[in-house]
Amino acid sequence: MDITITEFHTKQEMYAQMAQHIQNIFDEAADLYAALANTSALMALYLEVINWAGFYLLKEKGLVLGPFQGKPAVAHIQIGDGVCGTAVLERAQQRVDDVHSCCNHIACDLNSSSEIVTPIFVKDRIFGVIDVDSPIPARFDEEDEKGMRLLAETIEQKITGLL
Ligand code: SME
Repeated sequence: MDITITEFHTKQEMYAQMAQHIQNIFDEAADLYAALANTSALMALYLEVINWAGFYLLKEKGLVLGPFQGKPAVAHIQIGDGVCGTAVLERAQQRVDDVHSCCNHIACDLNSSSEIVTPIFVKDRIFGVIDVDSPIPARFDEEDEKGMRLLAETIEQKITGLL
């Protein structure tokens, strides 16, 4: 699979391009884990100034580490713990500008300074989250919030087709 980054002028255009690639990735892989692995690689390819990008998937006992790019990370996160577990508990996207001042943050990579966590819903139930970390504070803005939600919705549609 050859992913080509074509020119974009705004984050909105970048995320739209990424969403198109994700559709192709899922169509080609026709397998959940392979598609999520390639999607994490896609995020690492497109998103600048990040040090971790990947997935935690919701299982019976909480979130379990899924495919990702970055340093080895905590394997299990309880619902309500950390930024990821909070996203599941509140069923809402979390954007943290400074993880060091956030009391409910699980440090995986000490270089991380800001983080965005976006739930993926499948048939109104949380399937998992997309987690992206950056080594600089306030790396993510409202455009990233919208963009990450677009990626989550694209994944949601594709997962629904695979299940
Ligand atoms: N920081 C996350 C834990 C996962 S690592 O960032 C990869 C959290 O607080 O949930």
